[in-house]
Amino acid sequence: MTAKIISGTETAKVIREELKVEVAELTEKTGVVPGLVTILVGEDPASQSYVAAKNKTAHALGIHSEQVTLDAETSEEELLSIVDKYNKDDKIHGILVQLPLPKHIHDNKVLEAIDPNKDVDGFHPINVGRMMLGEKCFLPCTPHGVLELLARSGTETSGAEVVVVGRSNIVGKPVANLMLQKRDGGNATVTLCHTRTKDMDFHTKRADILIVAAGVPNMIKADQVKEGVVVIDVGVNRIGMTESGKAKLAGDVDFASVKEKAAAITPVPGGVGPMTITMLMKNTLQAARQYAGVA
Ligand code: GUN
Repeated sequence: MTAKIISGTETAKVIREELKVEVAELTEKTGVVPGLVTILVGEDPASQSYVAAKNKTAHALGIHSEQVTLDAETSEEELLSIVDKYNKDDKIHGILVQLPLPKHIHDNKVLEAIDPNKDVDGFHPINVGRMMLGEKCFLPCTPHGVLELLARSGTETSGAEVVVVGRSNIVGKPVANLMLQKRDGGNATVTLCHTRTKDMDFHTKRADILIVAAGVPNMIKADQVKEGVVVIDVGVNRIGMTESGKAKLAGDVDFASVKEKAAAITPVPGGVGPMTITMLMKNTLQAARQYAGVA
């Protein structure tokens, strides 16, 4: 079997066209232009390129976007006061602080300082709690993107054995939680594997849907999956440079071998990455709608 490729690039393109229309409609009806601020601390090249892509996409959709770039020595207090400024700014409906932050800054303190109504990353404990309870909230962008890819590729999740590899707060924990919610796109039987899992292969080989967010390049090989599995590879690992000086990327899944066994698989790049950015735009539109009172 050679897998169907689930293209995040193509899926994101379709959703972005929908969002562009919805942004224009909101602006025309209410005068509110959705606004996003991205805050980057330090010079991590991956973070720089993610933030640039987020601002570029916002611009293309008619979303007002501002970028704040701070040096790595910025104090926690200074960052908190910038967050507070944007909490009070009526032009800004979404605030994104790019992670990771430098070691001297406590991530949680900063994320908790963001107004939950502007928390378009879905990282504030209030939104995390609401997500867990199945209430309306901002869903975290990467897990939300994974759900959209599964839904739009026609993958049935109800009753499926879903195995998630990786337990980060950004991807593993929330995606596992979303997949077990009692609603369309959920209803799965979920197993969450991590670095202390005793027999990883036992679990990955059982998966109907395998979601890998471990941060280890090419970690999952063909002999660790079953024939006909649907694979979502969340890994974005920089493994060198291309001849044109761009970062060479690899996923957490050994694409070349696993695609021969899977029913469907996301590539890296062009899989989950574009969906994360698109879901951020969707959340920013949702935040602006809430601000305009038309949510
Ligand atoms: N770093 C890696 N992924 C993300 C994300 O989804 N949001 C933020 N703010 N930082 C990240």
